[in-house]
Amino acid sequence: MPSVIVLDPLAQEGLDLLDAAEGITYEVRTGLKGDDLREAVSQFDGAICRSGVKLTSDVLTGKSKLKAVVRAGVGTDNIDKDAATKAGVVVMNTPAGNTISTAEHAIALMLAMSRSIAPAYQSLIEGRWDRKAFMGAQVAGKTLGIVGLGRIGLAVAARAKALEMDLIGYDPFMSAERAKQLGIELVENVADMLPRVDYLTVHTPLTEETRNLISTEQIEVMKPGARLINCARGGIYDEAALAEGLKAGKIAGVALDVYPDEPCTDSPLFGMPGVVCTPHLGASTEEAQTQVAVEAVELLTAYLSTGA
Ligand code: MLT
Repeated sequence: MPSVIVLDPLAQEGLDLLDAAEGITYEVRTGLKGDDLREAVSQFDGAICRSGVKLTSDVLTGKSKLKAVVRAGVGTDNIDKDAATKAGVVVMNTPAGNTISTAEHAIALMLAMSRSIAPAYQSLIEGRWDRKAFMGAQVAGKTLGIVGLGRIGLAVAARAKALEMDLIGYDPFMSAERAKQLGIELVENVADMLPRVDYLTVHTPLTEETRNLISTEQIEVMKPGARLINCARGGIYDEAALAEGLKAGKIAGVALDVYPDEPCTDSPLFGMPGVVCTPHLGASTEEAQTQVAVEAVELLTAYLSTGA
């Protein structure tokens, strides 16, 4: 009888599906690390994780029953995929489940940054009624640059369109014709959009190509007063360069949900004026967590029962 280990907290709907899955047993064992993690994982046929647990080569290599891991979410950067392949472990993800929630969070951060929501609330609860300190920027009529026009990038585009923003996009896999149908002006490289955008948002994985995509050199050519949002992966923006850009008044704002090293409790940007940050909350909605949990369980149980 195939067995499953759930390594990170999973929405109840996913656990209910596991309960109902005939011929499958499961255990929830969260917070495991090191030898405990390796030993536990090796005793199960399948594993479900989110981003909390790190499935490194040490965990995946060696004598083990493990055949498949499903990431309840998009990014599989917490799983060593080379080691998994060598060990014959299939790695799957649930790419669609948190699209809308993540796109909504990018829009929420853009608006919060533009209207100083966090510092204005802080000032108010500290007893000040200060309307002058928080002069904001309207987003309607402004240009939003979107790097990466996959599921999340396009969901952001649709919402930004409704906010009456002009859109410029970059994605090597999108045709100019398709982009035009969606009301997005497609450019051939990121550098082409930088001098033109008031807001920039990235929706790509972190790869060697996207690491430090925006650093000092890119900030130099951006429109003065631009604002940047990252709800994708930490490291796509060079945080030190963003801090310098803010200090020098080259950029007006930064909104981050993701960091090069997570959990992150210290960043050069924390506390700077114009900055709003959240602790990787893009997919943290009831709806997204339910959907990714259900999709993850469906994928894993189908794989373990049929091998497909
Ligand atoms: C994902 O990759 O699914 C999102 O970044 C959300 C998460 O890591 O929890």
